[in-house]
Amino acid sequence: MKVLTDLNNGLAFLHRGEFKEFLFRLKVYFKKIDLSYASADTLGLSAERSHAYADSGGTHLEKILNHLNITKEDSIVDFGSGKGGALITFARYPFFKIMGVELLPELVAIAHKNLKILRISTVTMVVSDAAHVTDLNEYTHFYFYSPFPRNVMADVIGNLETSLRLKPRKITIIYCNPEFHDCIVTDTRFSKTNEFHHNRLHHPVYLYSNKP
Ligand SMILES: C[S@@+](CC[C@H](N)C(=O)[O-])C[C@H]1O[C@@H](n2cnc3c(N)ncnc32)[C@H](O)[C@@H]1O
Repeated sequence: MKVLTDLNNGLAFLHRGEFKEFLFRLKVYFKKIDLSYASADTLGLSAERSHAYADSGGTHLEKILNHLNITKEDSIVDFGSGKGGALITFARYPFFKIMGVELLPELVAIAHKNLKILRISTVTMVVSDAAHVTDLNEYTHFYFYSPFPRNVMADVIGNLETSLRLKPRKITIIYCNPEFHDCIVTDTRFSKTNEFHHNRLHHPVYLYSNKP
């Protein structure tokens, strides 16, 4: 049954003329890379601290990153990196450092396996609640895809503000499915600078930067 669903999903990409995404999904399938959805219930996650796992990587995320002119001066954190779907996409760009932060060690173990299959060695991952990660001064880009509820989002944005006070610099926040947009722009130094659409997930993606 799963084969039929996978086949159907693959054919849908072809039908929409998304040949590059089709090839990427074919590679994921045949190399046995696990980026499958996992509900918060299955993962035993508390609704107060977390959301489910789903993958936002692939050519749709690339289309957004292509607008950012990434150079080796840039480094990125994926808050709530799960099985590594977005990290795999970030590894295609010249980021100096790529870090995934994930609450669940079992998802980090799967991500390690996925990265190993793809021979990606440029990514580090930490197992932690995102709100507890404060060592952020070396990073310029911060990615969120619906990882956690408002309270955790507010803590993480607070940590970014502290990091900016310690090391003033321009940073970019990329927020896919920006449910808590207000946490980012209310009484902070961040403002929305651009808006894209993730066509596979059918979510808006907002970009923010700090005010000069
Ligand atoms: C929607 S997935 C996004 C996965 C990945 N960023 C991507 O785009 O492909 C959200 C992830 O956030 C993780 N997560 C949820 N709450 C978290 C928290 N408080 N701290 C760190 N990670 C968390 C979940 O376990 C899940 O893997």
